[in-house]
Amino acid sequence: MTMLATRTTPPLNHRNPEIADWVDDIARLTTPDEVVWVDGSTAEWDRLTKEMVAQGTLIRLNPEWRPNSFLARSDPADVARVEDRTFICSVDPDDAGPTNNWRDPSIMRLELSELFSHSMRGRTMYVIPFSMGPIGGALSQFGVQITDSPYVVASMALMTRMGDAALEAITPGTPWVPALHSVGAPLVDDDGVRHDDSAWPNNENKYICHFPESREIWSFGSGYGGNALLGKKCFALRIASVMARDEGWMAEHMLIVRVTSPENRVFHLAAAFPSACGKTNLAMLAPTIPGWKVETIGDDIAWMRPGPDGRLRAINPERGFFGVAPGTGLSTNPVATKTIWGNTIFTNVALRDDGDVWWEGLTDTPPAHATDWAGNDWTPASGTRAAHPNGRFTVAADQCPTIADDWNSPDGVVIDAILFGGRRPSTVPLVSQARTWQQGVFMGATMASETTAAATGEVGVLRHDPFAMLPFTGYNMADYFAHWIAMGERLGENAPAIFSVNWFRTDADGRFIWPGFSENARVIEWIVGRLEGDLAARATPIGGLPLAHELNLDGLSLDVDEIRGIIDLDKTAWRREAAEIADYFGTFDETRFPIELRRELERLTRELGPE
Ligand code: GDP
Ligand code: PGA
Ligand code: MN
Ligand code: MN
Repeated sequence: MTMLATRTTPPLNHRNPEIADWVDDIARLTTPDEVVWVDGSTAEWDRLTKEMVAQGTLIRLNPEWRPNSFLARSDPADVARVEDRTFICSVDPDDAGPTNNWRDPSIMRLELSELFSHSMRGRTMYVIPFSMGPIGGALSQFGVQITDSPYVVASMALMTRMGDAALEAITPGTPWVPALHSVGAPLVDDDGVRHDDSAWPNNENKYICHFPESREIWSFGSGYGGNALLGKKCFALRIASVMARDEGWMAEHMLIVRVTSPENRVFHLAAAFPSACGKTNLAMLAPTIPGWKVETIGDDIAWMRPGPDGRLRAINPERGFFGVAPGTGLSTNPVATKTIWGNTIFTNVALRDDGDVWWEGLTDTPPAHATDWAGNDWTPASGTRAAHPNGRFTVAADQCPTIADDWNSPDGVVIDAILFGGRRPSTVPLVSQARTWQQGVFMGATMASETTAAATGEVGVLRHDPFAMLPFTGYNMADYFAHWIAMGERLGENAPAIFSVNWFRTDADGRFIWPGFSENARVIEWIVGRLEGDLAARATPIGGLPLAHELNLDGLSLDVDEIRGIIDLDKTAWRREAAEIADYFGTFDETRFPIELRRELERLTRELGPE
């Protein structure tokens, strides 16, 4: 057994006995061999990664191509978020319904206590104090994650502000979220027999549980990012959405960017797209049209709160990116490609023979031979994918060449516009602007998108995903809609403008019509034109649409009829959509569902008129 240079007692435990007590309780429950308080140092990163390489969890990439970078291959059964194993354990089931899986909190606690009992036997238990948002910032929040996965520790080091600096700041009385995680694979069995570890320990019985009333997280059985890096989806979205409802702010599945126009006017946009629907790409947009600049502030989560001036301010609570690898290449996302030059953990992508990584879309020409994400020999003739479609890179945000200088600012940035989008092969146009905040909330509430590999289950199935928050709202979805309506009332004239976008319309052969990626700058240009009041919009039942000649298509070789097809209102399709939305609204508890959304639907239906 390797001995770590461990600190089994908290370095600053005198500051916060509450944390020390909780850690003691969990250690008694899970019975690890040792307890390590993570300090967040480079020496610690080096030690952990070295141990994981020796153990087989990580493969060190060739430092000539990818310094201080690693490849992890997960268990093929642990590659994505498990929505059917994700639970909101509120006291009243109605406080979780109708879109979440619910479990009774006291029963769930008993069940989890049994699962966690001795679950770390033979392993090291790590304690990770962390901050979501800059440490001490007015919009920031603290958490402490316990985990028996060194992969999780190294990933949290990239994704959050963690270690001694965070622990020091969690003084007694400061709220912090306890977040307990175990891969659920003890190395010593009940008879005291020690087993060899596997490269990716996990348990087929997975539970991702949230207790909104006590603001706690318990995650068992998975090592995958969205299930195991508890600061991200579990805290910054599910638990934070509950805090936000109670405290009058918003925790959203949104990227944040700063856009500077050729006239040097500056705007900030936040955009909600479901998982694997283009947030990271839009956050790192490299505009093709001259004079435009996009700077990155966040790529997945936005915490937003009205500032002293009454305008909505947003921070990115994370400090790294957990991005989809496949499809990320120099032609689609040059910025991300440069961000991951080194100091990156890759998960479930292919390994080239020269010791670098590869995935579909990284380069046009695949390597002649590689090892695929599951560890098998691979050639372009294999007929299989080299990388898992949900293969990921984990990297610190400050490596991003377009990161905004002040992305770390604790006060955040003022949001001028909010965008909602998803994968819609038909019906939803390239861009439309909501006439009012209420219509914008209607756009968010009625979003639908094709499922992706970011979650387990079938891919390409159209489903409702309101505000891209279907898997992430930690409370009743109708209450969440009402919270959006209430925030608009509070913001009044200061409320950001709201737009709907869709990069994913397809032609009869199933090909994307809109070139997307860097060319999305053209849609941003139109949006900014609307914010500045320079451009007109055609008022339609689904919002303001661009006049064809005002959308900048210079230099694009596109069929004009096809473009018209994706920027216009398809009345027939929208009549169907409106009828379907009526059915969807019927799935919510009428007493909780905001009347404003029903009025928007009535108005849409009326304005579309009969067949
Ligand atoms: P996120 O999970 O929402 O952050 O989405 P990503 O930005 O990582 O993108 C997910 C997948 O969608 C990747 O395979 C991208 O290559 C692809 N994608 C992103 N933006 C576009 C776009 O504008 N058009 C098309 N066709 N695909 C896109
Ligand atoms: P994504 O993040 O939105 O970048 O895919 C992970 C997820 O939502 O599961
Ligand atoms: Mn996400
Ligand atoms: Mn992303």
